[in-house]
Amino acid sequence: EDAIRVGDMAHQMGVKAPEIIRVLMGLGVLATINQSLDIETAGVVATEFGYEVEKVGFSEETFLIPSETDKPEDMKPRPPVVTIMGHVDHGKTSLLDAIRSSDVTAGEAGGITQHIGAYHVQTARGEVVFLDTPGHEAFTAMRARGAKVTDIVVLVVAADDGVMEQTREAINHSKAAGVPLVVAVNKMDKEGANPDRVKRELSELGMMPEEWGGETIYAYVSAKQRQGLDELLEMILLQAEVLELKANPDKPARGHIVEAKLDKGRGSLGTLLISEGTLRQGDAFVCGLQWGKVRAMFNDQGKKIKKAGPAMPVEVQGFDGLPEAGDEFVCVADEKVARRIADERQMKQRERELAKESKVTLESFLKSK
Ligand code: GTP
Ligand code: MG
Repeated sequence: EDAIRVGDMAHQMGVKAPEIIRVLMGLGVLATINQSLDIETAGVVATEFGYEVEKVGFSEETFLIPSETDKPEDMKPRPPVVTIMGHVDHGKTSLLDAIRSSDVTAGEAGGITQHIGAYHVQTARGEVVFLDTPGHEAFTAMRARGAKVTDIVVLVVAADDGVMEQTREAINHSKAAGVPLVVAVNKMDKEGANPDRVKRELSELGMMPEEWGGETIYAYVSAKQRQGLDELLEMILLQAEVLELKANPDKPARGHIVEAKLDKGRGSLGTLLISEGTLRQGDAFVCGLQWGKVRAMFNDQGKKIKKAGPAMPVEVQGFDGLPEAGDEFVCVADEKVARRIADERQMKQRERELAKESKVTLESFLKSK
């Protein structure tokens, strides 16, 4: 598994690759410039040129900028990131649409121009960033990797339907992630609306409303009639104040991919939620197994922007390949470093897959005997 490419070795020793290939031929090894040599072979070749092979291993940490270097005075307040969760059809998207349409900065033509699954909303009391991730895939993926992108969960429960399977799932998600939860009882306008039943059912799950002496904040809304939205936003912002959310904007950006897609014309696109630092056009980055350079970036209204700071959702163009929801995104010094790290990660990934495959083959062989 320790290996060095003929080309890299030539470069490090300051000789031409064909010279190495010739030495290898003398050893009975037919090699190309892209061939990887194991450490023993590389050792033999190196001695021919008066060098010694030293095993140092590749550590991407040496290339990544550590994130623990923030001084308290570098930390600036940032908007909360709020994930909307709840059972199918309970009105998550409707609620977000209603909140967005009350956004004071959203222009006439703005509206819902583009679905990037993450929205920045400017309210009278402050900014909020909302995530609407269908099926909570990104949320689950990120949690599985120990990444925390959400500060607050808004649990949407339809007043006429009550607690359902995915309501319970959402509660478990937020509990496991240790994220505070605000309940939005939606569809209050409906004939069969029964908020007391919702409160009872949720109380049984440990979420007793404040008005009943519990600690859970409830808001009563109608996405359809756009009622109760201000109260809901106020409760979200109150909850956010308690959390005292801060991030350092004056450093290379880091964040997570909440959504990714392949666009015919624009290639691989990733919706990035920046956790710290400022992302600028032209920045080189590593993201999961991919690398790239920010060719262009767009805000949640599809507007081209040049830079974005903490808690901002942006659509990034310039990925070498398609990233995955949950992937960590880190800016690095330049494209060369970015590619190097991604190459290394891809190689390790291939090794893992091969190891898995050979194991499967062996197992099936043993079984078939
Ligand atoms: P999924 O993304 O499929 O899980 O659904 P969702 O939770 O995003 O629900 P969505 O916003 O798509 O709404 C589902 C249905 O409920 C739609 O037909 C909405 O028009 C309706 N609806 C949403 N909010 C309200 C509300 O406040 N009142 C009434 N009467 N209907 C609503
Ligand atoms: Mg929806």
